[in-house]
Amino acid sequence: MENRETWSGNFGFIMATIGSAIGLGNVWKFPYITGMNGGGAFVIVYIVCVLLLGVPVMICEMNIGRKTGLNAYGAYKRLELRRSRIGRFIAAGLILGGLCLIGAGSYGFGTVSVIAGLIVLKLGFAAFGLLAIFGALAILSYYAVVGGWIVDYMFRSFSGNLNYSDVASAGEAFGKLTESPWRVSLFYVLFMVLCGAMLVGGVRNGIEKWSKILMPLLFFLLIAVIVRSVTLPGSWPGVKFFLEPDFSKLTAGGILMALGQCFYSLSLGMGITVTYGSYMRKNQDIFAASFWVMVLDTLAAVLAGLAIFPAVFAMGFNPGDGPSLIFKILPATFNHFPGGTGWLWGGLFFLMLTIGAVTSGVALLQNGVSFFQDQLKWSRMRSIAVCFCGVTLFGFLSSLSVANWKHIPAVKTLIGKMFGAEHVPGSFFDMLDNLTSNWMLPIGGMVICLFVGWVWTARKAARELRLGASKSSPDVNLISLLAGFLGEPMYKTTRDHGLTLISLWAIIIRFFAPVVIFLIFLRAVGVNIGF
Ligand code: TRP
Repeated sequence: MENRETWSGNFGFIMATIGSAIGLGNVWKFPYITGMNGGGAFVIVYIVCVLLLGVPVMICEMNIGRKTGLNAYGAYKRLELRRSRIGRFIAAGLILGGLCLIGAGSYGFGTVSVIAGLIVLKLGFAAFGLLAIFGALAILSYYAVVGGWIVDYMFRSFSGNLNYSDVASAGEAFGKLTESPWRVSLFYVLFMVLCGAMLVGGVRNGIEKWSKILMPLLFFLLIAVIVRSVTLPGSWPGVKFFLEPDFSKLTAGGILMALGQCFYSLSLGMGITVTYGSYMRKNQDIFAASFWVMVLDTLAAVLAGLAIFPAVFAMGFNPGDGPSLIFKILPATFNHFPGGTGWLWGGLFFLMLTIGAVTSGVALLQNGVSFFQDQLKWSRMRSIAVCFCGVTLFGFLSSLSVANWKHIPAVKTLIGKMFGAEHVPGSFFDMLDNLTSNWMLPIGGMVICLFVGWVWTARKAARELRLGASKSSPDVNLISLLAGFLGEPMYKTTRDHGLTLISLWAIIIRFFAPVVIFLIFLRAVGVNIGF
């Protein structure tokens, strides 16, 4: 730990962390769900979610990372001094729940739950650290497949081969791509190589150095595409679709979507920010850093919408979601740009997206790399080699099964036998996406709040948080601040005994966040919670 690398400063840390945060989530999810859920109204709800939930959880992650200087597994292990009661309670719940499931005839899920319970009983919270680290590597294995498509589209656009006159033909070409496993795999491996190459220099000379160049470039490209997009004739309906507040379209489901999206977009719940936080120095301000990461990530999401919808509407297309928006509607849109400049704008757009995806991929990879370095004392190169090869091999299951299970029928049969045929999703790729986004992220987020608030204790966490936090004045009394009493010496700070920024944070992570995240989780995995 003494020799642990550190970021060179706040700017480098913030660039690296927004590198991990800004990615496909900002570009292909946020704009669409905003458009569908009341535009500006949804953006307001999203910002509230980010402030009340996203930022507090991010602060927890950075805090335990910096405190221990370790990966998520090591951090939990070091800070859980005695086996905690909460940990045992969770283990008992998993085991009993699993037995009930087995009793009810659901053998696959029941067995998984019992095994998970036994692991939690044995390892305590560190079990969730393991889940986060291997979960992040699993995310990478399918994220990189999409990353590969994006690199593919970037090359095709720059070389003038992304010329589809309508959405149907673009869709057909996309279908063909996802059905050619070797082409997909080629670009997928190329994407992994890009991620691995950025890591070779280490934290400061690899991740930080690249992020400092690439993130400003990403914002620059985004703004360039926006300028082109909103100056197209007929682009205004797109801006309106995206931003005009319509509170009547805002539903309870939409609010829950905002919560889920804020976790995904800020890369929370999978130990990433623990790992990045572990390279922070004690004189860095965690409050201020998480605030900036939140602002820039949200800004990138809003800018992405402004880049996409005005152009789509100006060219007379209808918006669609996720893969179809990016890989079918946008290529057709760019192709209609005036003066035959579509190849250039399309290329720049996909370059921007490649940057976002690669810097997120790097974070997911580094999460695993730091685990092997810290826990097994492997060298950096060996850790990178093992994570790289492991993820790349595992990812073939996704890259070969994007369209359906045609190329890996045995895996499909196995999953069907274990969990029941009705639980076999469209492809291995879909299964991993569902498993990680809907199950692992909320579990990871909930666990970290419970852990910091109750096991390590908010009291100790606050002590660590105050280090380096003079700029954001975490102890300012919020009531006095609002009342305008700050000039009075006795109202200035009230450490621990008053509503301060830091006590507000502690209340949120002890009571509010775990409950709210649990509700999102239940809904995301299909339990009916009444709305
Ligand atoms: N935040 C990234 C995005 O918006 C995706 C991502 C990277 C992620 N690392 C993560 C999501 C960890 C969840 C957990 O595209």
